[in-house]
Amino acid sequence: MADLDDIRDGDNFGLNTPADTSAFYLKGLNSTDWGIKNRVSRIFNRKSGRTVMLAFDHGFLMGPTSGLERIDINIAPLAEHADCLMGTRGMIRSCIPASNTKPICLRTDTGTTILTDMNHNVLIDEAEAISMNASCMAAMIAVGDADTEAITIANISRLVDIGQKYSIPVMGVTAVGKAMARDSRYFGLAARVCAENGASIVKTYYTEGFENVVAATPVPVVIAGGKKLPELEALELAYNAIQCGAAGVDMGRNVFQSEAPLAMIKAVGGVVHDNLTPKEGFELFNDLKNA
Ligand code: 5RP
Repeated sequence: MADLDDIRDGDNFGLNTPADTSAFYLKGLNSTDWGIKNRVSRIFNRKSGRTVMLAFDHGFLMGPTSGLERIDINIAPLAEHADCLMGTRGMIRSCIPASNTKPICLRTDTGTTILTDMNHNVLIDEAEAISMNASCMAAMIAVGDADTEAITIANISRLVDIGQKYSIPVMGVTAVGKAMARDSRYFGLAARVCAENGASIVKTYYTEGFENVVAATPVPVVIAGGKKLPELEALELAYNAIQCGAAGVDMGRNVFQSEAPLAMIKAVGGVVHDNLTPKEGFELFNDLKNA
């Protein structure tokens, strides 16, 4: 039982300090639950409002692609320089130390590889996301693909239902339909479909007219890096996306296939968080590479 004597009445009510009613720092998420806000706050830097997510989920479709042969050797040492790690449950459990404190964006769809028709995917059990302490769950939608559009949109919709229940944000990943033009109209449509279905973050590709994609997607947008480019071009890609309003990158091959992955992730961080120009970022890359 609580003590009944010497009960001290509160006398420090801060009457001259109004309660903070300012909006949440990331766009479109002000009306989400405390748990979702708390989890996205682990992913997006509070000061810059942006993120450098490191994507290494490629193997679930592509097998041991270049740079991901040994995730324990090639990816784990980069973790401390990323804001968030995006991977599958198998690779994270096997290759990322459980003492890792970086937030996890768990790839939650699975089912096909590049050897067959992609995107006939299903979701893994949500208990996995909870037991792995995921800060975000990611699934892909294949907008414009007649065979797989419906199942992948149903997947993301169900994933958002699950995320709402446990306050885990969902990142919608826009796939590139084989028949679709890789332009801002297509990616704008796919990104918007993710947001309309309740995704808290959208991952898509940078294209000309990207400012329209970002403007019409009311939640934070991050870009994939796509296939390996020379480092300066990859930094230009990140820079251009940021100039168009992107909230960061979820980059894979342009980091782990770089000749100097550690230098590259730091240079990408400089562009994303510190507003370095591509030239400045490239100078940083070269300095770190040669150090
Ligand atoms: C595709 C993905 C990949 O993680 C993505 O493409 C990011 O990697 P990269 O920067 O190599 O394109 O989500 O489903």
